[in-house]
Amino acid sequence: MSKIFDALRKAEKNRRGQKGAPKKISRKRKNRSGDGREVIIGGLDRDFSRSLYTLRNSIDTEIRDKGSRVVMITSSVEGEGKTTIAGFLARVIAANEMESVLLVDCAIKSSRIGELFGLDAGKGIVDYLLGEAEIGDIINTADPGVLDIVISGEVRQQSVIQPLFNSDRMQFFIRDVSEKYDYVIFDTSAVLDAPETSILSPQMDGVVMVVRAGKTKREVIKRAMMMLNKQGGNLIGSVLNRKRYYIPEFIYKRV
Ligand SMILES: Nc1ncnc2c1ncn2[C@@H]1O[C@H](COP(=O)(O)OP(=O)(O)OP(=O)(O)O)[C@@H](O)[C@H]1O
Ligand SMILES: [Mg+2]
Repeated sequence: MSKIFDALRKAEKNRRGQKGAPKKISRKRKNRSGDGREVIIGGLDRDFSRSLYTLRNSIDTEIRDKGSRVVMITSSVEGEGKTTIAGFLARVIAANEMESVLLVDCAIKSSRIGELFGLDAGKGIVDYLLGEAEIGDIINTADPGVLDIVISGEVRQQSVIQPLFNSDRMQFFIRDVSEKYDYVIFDTSAVLDAPETSILSPQMDGVVMVVRAGKTKREVIKRAMMMLNKQGGNLIGSVLNRKRYYIPEFIYKRV
């Protein structure tokens, strides 16, 4: 997967190279609409890329009148594609160079964002929540001025983690980064596997559920949604991931 990100980075560099030196990005976006240009990113399937733009537009529609959008990507059970969607969504938003994005790995059970972006292991959100690091210590730059990343940090026991997700330090973190970035995207563990995900959900502006097409049962999705609702999470949409076309795609699009 990191190969894909290398390809993305290379394609963006080439694109910038054609336009001259990268412009300095204001952390506070002045123009939400950008120039309306769809950024074509090498290494991404075009339909997948389009669906990420659709997701980004849905987030903008659902979370209005806010200087920043703080969104959680989750799913009912493991392996539905949360990290893939969160990582590429962050990349796609950052690629238009008008909006700054912070991607935070709160998938403590299966953290993979660091590996995905080729970052070394180090201090992350858990270390900050435990008071063993400050916010400035855990921010990694993936693409200067537009995409920063916070990895999960040192592995700790689940029982240590859960109360931290509802702590004053977590609330302070969210408030602080939402003042600095246009989008803050949290990758998380599955709702039914990790109670800390539901605990975190009401602190978000919105929650996006990833559903693996043809695999996750309706009752399972419903149970996860009920858990989020119970905690006060604001479900703003879902993503049907890995949808297969049973008839050729160009025909499918016409029927
Ligand atoms: N749209 C997609 N097309 C092809 N492969 C995909 C797609 N989405 C996810 N995958 C693959 O499926 C696997 C699981 O994806 P991912 O790690 O994103 O899931 P997850 O929900 O984050 O899992 P976990 O619950 O373990 O954190 C990965 O190998 C990933 O590359
Ligand atoms: Mg994951």
